[in-house]
Amino acid sequence: MDSVLVIDFGGQYSQLIARRVRELRVFSELIPYDTSIEEIKRKNPKGLIFSGSPYSIASGGNEMPVIDKKFLSLGIPILGICYGMQLMARLCGGDIVRTGSNEYGKTEINLDLSSPLFDGLKIKESCLMSHRDSVGKVPEGFKAIASTPNLPIAGMEHPGKKLFGIQFHPEVMHTPSGMDILRNFLFDICGCSPNWTMVSIIESETEKTKETVGKGEVICGLSGGVDSSVAALLVHRAVGDRLTCIFVDHGLLRKDEAKQVIETFKKNLKMNLIHIDAKDRFLKRLKGIIDPEEKRKIIGEEFIRIFEEEALKIKNADYLVQGTLYSDVIESGTGTAAKIKSHHNVGGLPEDMKLKLIEPLRLLFKDEIRKLGIELGLSDEIVWRQPFPGPGLAIRIIGDITLEKIKILQDADEIVIEEIKRAGLYRKIWQSFAILPSIKSVGVMGDERTYAYPIAIRAFSSVDAMTADWVRLPYDVLERMSSRIINEVDGVNRVVYDISSKPPSTIEWE
Ligand code: XMP
Repeated sequence: MDSVLVIDFGGQYSQLIARRVRELRVFSELIPYDTSIEEIKRKNPKGLIFSGSPYSIASGGNEMPVIDKKFLSLGIPILGICYGMQLMARLCGGDIVRTGSNEYGKTEINLDLSSPLFDGLKIKESCLMSHRDSVGKVPEGFKAIASTPNLPIAGMEHPGKKLFGIQFHPEVMHTPSGMDILRNFLFDICGCSPNWTMVSIIESETEKTKETVGKGEVICGLSGGVDSSVAALLVHRAVGDRLTCIFVDHGLLRKDEAKQVIETFKKNLKMNLIHIDAKDRFLKRLKGIIDPEEKRKIIGEEFIRIFEEEALKIKNADYLVQGTLYSDVIESGTGTAAKIKSHHNVGGLPEDMKLKLIEPLRLLFKDEIRKLGIELGLSDEIVWRQPFPGPGLAIRIIGDITLEKIKILQDADEIVIEEIKRAGLYRKIWQSFAILPSIKSVGVMGDERTYAYPIAIRAFSSVDAMTADWVRLPYDVLERMSSRIINEVDGVNRVVYDISSKPPSTIEWE
């Protein structure tokens, strides 16, 4: 399978570049800039893309991410974007200057159409610029291929070495011809074939799992959501009945969720399933814990301990399948991405874990996993289920977790989901749920003073959970949720709506 890797210097659009490449059916992943050249060679990419970065080459500094010049001599085409172009210029002996006139936003650009990068485009296009530094003089062997009124060198090319740089961002919507530029790079310049399809992923993951597992036994942590169901289906294709799914009820699920998951599973997925009721065990360990990272670590560890115990009972299964996805991996901290939170199934794993992990979805985004689920014949009910985090309500009860709070939150959450479904919004919205902040406020019900919990409602749209925008829910939907929650859920006297997007907030409150 052809691939083009994105060398990540920490730019805000790095992942989007990888997504765009994948949309053109060429496999791509983010590679931290300090990855060794041997590792890159091992991955055998057909091209590289250097991402942007928050750092400035003109200002220098020790923290500035740089790579060895040898990267430019791998013999494969490279496209540098923004900082990536400047770094390429610097490594080849060009000049980087702080222009003084910053360019941010939509800008008209003149293109040299003789460059294969701009094949089929117009002489004038519009693009998104976001930079302070720029290339002042192209290095030897390069020529300028794009300019704006403020910027004489907005693009450059070394024709013989197939090295290209563009100061603007082709990966964003504000550059309408951006996908054409990427298409030219991938297919005409790198010579890739668009062979990264759902069918090819299914085939390669099945083969890989068969090879890894051999004749061994496998268990799978199944939550009932789309990720773990797709992961289970994929592995089931490879090992058949040697796979046993384990559904753990940690007592922090949504109302009646355990029953629903088991029914749906039995109806849709013909695989071995064990249901573990571990409510007491989890709640005992979480008693009095208020730190979000500690909650996640405890939950991650308890899950693994249960899986290990079950693995011993199943003729010593050695492998554990998890539905970890790419956004979990990135947000739990990679070489270049900062750690935001330890997703329970990535950063929350105990160090002494005995089971070996199989994570067939580790490099996929949620929308790609849904497409894979459809290809594998998974029912709409599972494919379109809104995501629910592994630590469940533990990270939606802010502060310490008690049975009383769990019951309040489950009841409120059920109303939120019912009303979202009633308004026909369930599939259109990425996630919608209730949060219980552990504070109390004063209210009046009848003639009585109340002193009770508020419930926060969160509903937002997203493509991959890496960024999210709060949904402008109709007032009547909000009003129905508010009045039903206050009237029907004991212990609540106030409802608020969370109107923060990600970034700067995260989706879950903890
Ligand atoms: P955040 O809060 O990081 O959430 O913006 C991004 C997406 O990930 C889900 N999430 C998790 N899923 N284990 C999971 O399986 C976790 O520890 C976890 N934390 C957050 C969250 O619901 C959202 O969809």
